[in-house]
Amino acid sequence: MNFSKLRTTAGLDVRGKRAIVRVDLNVPMADGRVTDATRLIRIAPCLTDLATRGARVLVISHYERPKGRDPKYSLRPVAEKLSEVLGAPVGFVDDCIGPAVDAAVAALAPGQILVLENLRFHAGEEKNDPEFARALARSGDFFVGEAFSSSHRAHASVDGITRLLPSYAGPLMAQEISALRDALEEPRRPTAAVVGGSKVSTKIPILTNLVRKVDRLIIGGGMANTFLQAQGLDVGKSLSEPDFHGTAREIIAAANASGCVIVLPSDGVVAAELKAGAPSKVVAIDAIPPECMMLDVGPRSIAEMTAGVRECRTLLWNGPLGAFEISPFGEGTFLLAREAAMLTRAGRLASVAGGGDTVAALNAAGVTGDFTYVSTAGGAFLEWLEGRELPGVAALLREAA
Ligand code: 3PG
Repeated sequence: MNFSKLRTTAGLDVRGKRAIVRVDLNVPMADGRVTDATRLIRIAPCLTDLATRGARVLVISHYERPKGRDPKYSLRPVAEKLSEVLGAPVGFVDDCIGPAVDAAVAALAPGQILVLENLRFHAGEEKNDPEFARALARSGDFFVGEAFSSSHRAHASVDGITRLLPSYAGPLMAQEISALRDALEEPRRPTAAVVGGSKVSTKIPILTNLVRKVDRLIIGGGMANTFLQAQGLDVGKSLSEPDFHGTAREIIAAANASGCVIVLPSDGVVAAELKAGAPSKVVAIDAIPPECMMLDVGPRSIAEMTAGVRECRTLLWNGPLGAFEISPFGEGTFLLAREAAMLTRAGRLASVAGGGDTVAALNAAGVTGDFTYVSTAGGAFLEWLEGRELPGVAALLREAA
């Protein structure tokens, strides 16, 4: 993809114009209240900038996966939280197309912000229906893609609309693309990737793509057990996927062929059960007792992994090294994360992380702010790591509508 074609809103004359801004308001909620405003905080600069420059700002997004209109999935409470985050009034219309939207847009003054109701209340959104895209597009003079985390969905508000309106990347979208491109496509070498999580089966395309691109691939979490078992080791009661031994061996062969060093745990923290405070011990990787499961990497593995990262200039991270949510099985993840954060602060490493679990693990380690870039995306970040073209990014690189 030719990223130099990416047009951004910087310098664009927006005064008095109607900007349709596709953001990702799919935020965690409990009892009708937003429980984590990170995504709202990240889109605030874009909305404030457009409003300050005199645009009439229409904010569109999906929320969750409703089957048709369902008040449970209304964006109204998110719009209220957004107003709090922006420190400015934010209007709300309980549909995203139709007469109520027409009236509200006609009354919208330059500098004002309006959130429209959940796009997924209309089936046309997920079908990328051109009629629905047209109905959305008629409210705007130009479109801003500011939802990298939804860019793996070829939906009407991500793809179809960009065929109808002049389209631009917002600052967060541009930042995400540039951070991921720097880490994966044009990195400072040597490069390392940490891939963890429980199952190999969910990350085969990522591992296959990464062994071709990085110099060192550190594998942890439950998925490491499948790799170890594929090499003939006994992993006791540890989580593993025997059906994927062949896949694990193919990934190792592909890594050998492209000169990528695979780093697997050489020791582990084991316990008889996955429970907070369960009695645990450190064992060598070839001495996992049959009644135990590996729940974290051990101190020798951490030393080897951190030494590997210290030799690298770029680090990509997706997935924890152990059952980090349950004490004491987060130590491996936390120690490696803190080392990466320290190297980043010292200017020796560019560190990019993403994916729901990973961000939670970095938050728990207290280092999220120290990484070069932490993506707000889950699925889109994973598809990028798989080397797939993201429709929402491709749409912004197409020639102007
Ligand atoms: C996300 O939270 O990752 C995005 O909003 C995408 O949501 P979806 O998987 O429902 O399309």
